[in-house]
Amino acid sequence: HCHCCLGWSAWCLCGCSSAGISQTYSLVHQEGQNAQLECRQTNNHDSMFWYRQEADQSLQLLYSFLYLEVRENSSISSRFTAERPQTAYSNLKISSVKQEDSAVYFCATSKHSTSK
Ligand SMILES: *[C@@H]1O[C@H](CO)[C@@H](O)[C@H](O)[C@H]1NC(C)=O
Repeated sequence: HCHCCLGWSAWCLCGCSSAGISQTYSLVHQEGQNAQLECRQTNNHDSMFWYRQEADQSLQLLYSFLYLEVRENSSISSRFTAERPQTAYSNLKISSVKQEDSAVYFCATSKHSTSK
């Protein structure tokens, strides 16, 4: 289920959650602010993922974690970072947000590294 902000704000970041996953979402009203999205899981899954979906685009994989080890999509902006300090928790940080970052951001988990 996704939380999204609509027309009243110039643009925004959104978050989605599903079974066993809770995710905070962040509204950004001005360029240059920092945003942090947080994701907690109670599934005890090995892998966590951050995805982004821009309007009318397919899902892009930004980060994947197997246990605490991160793998980054090398084509994304260096303004993005992700951490997973504990297996149950990950965050995605965007520094100095730009309008082009406006999108729906998903956190997902999976039990094994090989499945999505
Ligand atoms: C990595 O990011 C680029 C640019 O955002 C995107 O086009 C590509 O689909 C992403 N890779 C995956 C595996 O989603």
